[in-house]
Amino acid sequence: MIIAVDGPAASGKGTIARALARHYGLPHLDTGLLYRAVAVSVLREGRDPASEADALAACGFADSLLDDPELRTDEVGKAASVVSAHPPVRAALLERQRSFAQQPGGAVLDGRDIGTVIAPDADAKLFVKATPTIRAQRRHLELRKHGANPSLDKVLADIRTRDERDSHRSEAPMRQAEDAQVLDTSFLSIDAAIQRAIALVEARTRGAGGGAGQA
Ligand code: CDP
Ligand code: CDP
Repeated sequence: MIIAVDGPAASGKGTIARALARHYGLPHLDTGLLYRAVAVSVLREGRDPASEADALAACGFADSLLDDPELRTDEVGKAASVVSAHPPVRAALLERQRSFAQQPGGAVLDGRDIGTVIAPDADAKLFVKATPTIRAQRRHLELRKHGANPSLDKVLADIRTRDERDSHRSEAPMRQAEDAQVLDTSFLSIDAAIQRAIALVEARTRGAGGGAGQA
């Protein structure tokens, strides 16, 4: 069984994908980490994430940076969004994501283009969303936990910039696959969101209806 989980920053897709992987006993790949690893490499070399050549050169080093302590910082998230817009960077990371998805027994992957590009034949596709304000509040809380203290307005502006760039790039833009089920987590607790996600996957994979559209 292949489960594709897509959605914007802080929608809750990572939390949901991890929970689904645990529930079904499947391996999980957070594909954002691949783009983040490329970004770490570019930044550390003092290169420019907006340069296609610089970003492509960094792809070869991504594997060795997948456990890097800076992988999950906000600065790296922003640079990841910039490097991921270069089509050759996406091409360089495509095969390993596809083979992860197609391993025997199945897998759960989360990102932006799993249901549309990486695993268009996935058995279940969730598009996880939440309002920009709620996503900014979640990110703000996380940043404060890690000792940073940006204003909520700044975090919201960053979220909007990233949404805009990720949904309007030419290659594999973030969008809901036609056969995806939407899960709006804006007013759901983490536990409720996970239960809802499992119910949606069950509905799709056990032939109990399910259906696309608003959850
Ligand atoms: O956790 P968060 O949603 O903030 O970010 P992430 O999933 O780690 O992704 C970081 C950036 O990588 C995103 O803003 C996207 O630009 C890019 N990305 C992508 O283009 N395609 C994916 N499948 C996953 C991430
Ligand atoms: O992977 P993505 O960036 O989409 O989001 P995440 O890392 O799963 O969740 C972002 C933050 O929102 C985390 O701190 C989660 O604990 C929190 N969250 C929440 O408050 N309510 C939910 N229903 C889902 C996630």
